[in-house]
Amino acid sequence: MREVPSHFGPAHADAAKYREMYNESVENPEAFWGREGKRLDWITPYTKVKDTDFTFGNVSIKWFHDGVLNASVNCIDRHLATRGDQTAIIFEPDEPSDPAQYITYRELSEKVNRMANVLLSQGVMRGDRVVIYLPMIPEAAYAMLACARIGAIHSIVFAGFSPDALANRINDCGAKLVITADTAPRGGRRTPLKSNTDAALLHCSDKVRCLVVKHTGDQTTWIQGRDVDVKAMMEDVSPECPPRPMNAEDPLFILYTSGSTGKPKGVVHCTGGYLVYAAMTHEYVFDYHQGDVYWCSADVGWVTGHSYIVYGPLANGGTSLMFEGTPTYPDAGRFWEVCEKHKVNQFYTAPTAIRALMGQGPEYVEKYDLSALKTLGSVGEPINPEAWAWYDKYVGKGKCPIVDTWWQTETGGHMITPLPGAIPTKPGSATRPFFGVKPVILDPTTAVKQDETATEGVLCIADSWPGQMRTVWGDHERFQETYFSQYKGYYFTGDGCRRDSDGYYWITGRVDDVINVSGHRMGTAEVESALVAHQAVAEAAVVGFPHELKGQGIYAYVTLMNDVEPSDDLRKDLEKWVRTEIGPIAKPDVIQWAPGLPKTRSGKIMRRILRKIAENDTGALGDISTLADPSVVDDLIANRANKG
Ligand code: WT7
Repeated sequence: MREVPSHFGPAHADAAKYREMYNESVENPEAFWGREGKRLDWITPYTKVKDTDFTFGNVSIKWFHDGVLNASVNCIDRHLATRGDQTAIIFEPDEPSDPAQYITYRELSEKVNRMANVLLSQGVMRGDRVVIYLPMIPEAAYAMLACARIGAIHSIVFAGFSPDALANRINDCGAKLVITADTAPRGGRRTPLKSNTDAALLHCSDKVRCLVVKHTGDQTTWIQGRDVDVKAMMEDVSPECPPRPMNAEDPLFILYTSGSTGKPKGVVHCTGGYLVYAAMTHEYVFDYHQGDVYWCSADVGWVTGHSYIVYGPLANGGTSLMFEGTPTYPDAGRFWEVCEKHKVNQFYTAPTAIRALMGQGPEYVEKYDLSALKTLGSVGEPINPEAWAWYDKYVGKGKCPIVDTWWQTETGGHMITPLPGAIPTKPGSATRPFFGVKPVILDPTTAVKQDETATEGVLCIADSWPGQMRTVWGDHERFQETYFSQYKGYYFTGDGCRRDSDGYYWITGRVDDVINVSGHRMGTAEVESALVAHQAVAEAAVVGFPHELKGQGIYAYVTLMNDVEPSDDLRKDLEKWVRTEIGPIAKPDVIQWAPGLPKTRSGKIMRRILRKIAENDTGALGDISTLADPSVVDDLIANRANKG
């Protein structure tokens, strides 16, 4: 175990305070959260705190539900009197030679109010859905907060997703409007967001409007009557837009995430509980103090960007850095150059980025002055001890606590994580639960709760916390089915977990058909259905396999139509096909031609076997006697693809 006392003075919590607060938070959540809820400004204060039920068939989650507030007021207006001139957002562009922008709270307020008025002028009303398909530019934050200001529900679609994926999300949530940009520079290349949006909108209602941020000035098509130049229009509208009073349980945003079955689910987060939880976790987990410069390198297209670039830091009146680029452009020193330039105090990134940078050698880090750093964060997948040690040694210089934060799109904020100064770390463990979180480990087959301290099984959460998702957009049944049906009375995370004799939690990875590629969640079913949509493909099965940089890679077994011959051209064509169907992150790392797939007599594909073959662990296939045709396994092993 490692204790790293802050080299900057006392942290928000120490070990005794953590214990005391944690105990109260789980023994008396009403009192605990009743007090913590006051970290926000309420238009009508709540009198109710917790009203939650995990009973399958009756699942209902409400926090602070008679309270009225506005999220944009909490992230902006309430800071104006005391820190109007403080930088709210530092924007660091893709090209290091382009100047950074420093947006004060006062400027943020004006931009958000203007953007809100633009939305109103386009007929967006309270409760309407707005899809945001933007690069990592300040306008993404303005758009989110503008929606929050007028009570519209935003749904961000990661700019790396394809037109088809964008169209599906626009249609699923019935968005009235999509906000995009001309093109998105990243790592010196440009993604044509506007033309992707044009392609997506061919599959959507022709009532859907398109707001375009002219970011690079690149030429795009322009459809009169549908497309709107947002920046120009922001100049023409009033800089003041009264915030709509929202109920704590009014949805703030929808964010689509992959599951083990079917199409992506629209995870719904609501205004009050989510914001309380994002703000509190941001403060305690990163040990954020007033005046600190905080940087989360995630994209706003993922939940990490929602909670820890925009809502948490801004609700706390912090300074949040938004980075448009990539870790390796123009070279592997970019992260550290930016840390030095802006004197970053807290830095939050993903193990996959650390592994990629590790391979380039420490000289890229050693060049820069990182003495302002005090907390380092990790998220997305378990951090392997080698990456942990490198992060600690070269970036943190052995002086910065590393917070390995386990959480999910569904949880809204950190769930199991160290707190600097309070919880000693062990490399690879997310350590202990945050306030209000009751993790339990169940036997995966008997569903029996494991009471011994040291144990292993599936990870569930025994009671609600304010940041929990409330429902799946448009499908409360699916919400209950997915998270509350398998282990009755508990929220099921989908993760496996080990608890050691010190009571520390170690996430062992997904136990469902979800794979974690570079910290991004990918449903194997989604990749399979993209593959079978190709005319040459009869059947496909997708599994994860260990990948040095990405954590897990995508391994696809593809059965071709009878009259189709396998070829390298076809392989390339399938890769391209998946990129356009879903996006570059879904591109299979390996495609193996499979004349047959291992199926049970009832036709179920035995993925366990496919995983073993992909992992090259063919000595331990287990019982294959229930297969309809065991000989397909020999063929798959004999022709196992070279993973390079
Ligand atoms: C899944 C959630 C939460 C934002 C990033 C991904 C895995 C996430 C950790 C961690 C071990 C982790 C889990 C989880 N995961 N963080 N620190 N240690 N595993 O959000 O796309 O909703 O994915 O990512 O498997 O269930 P997401």
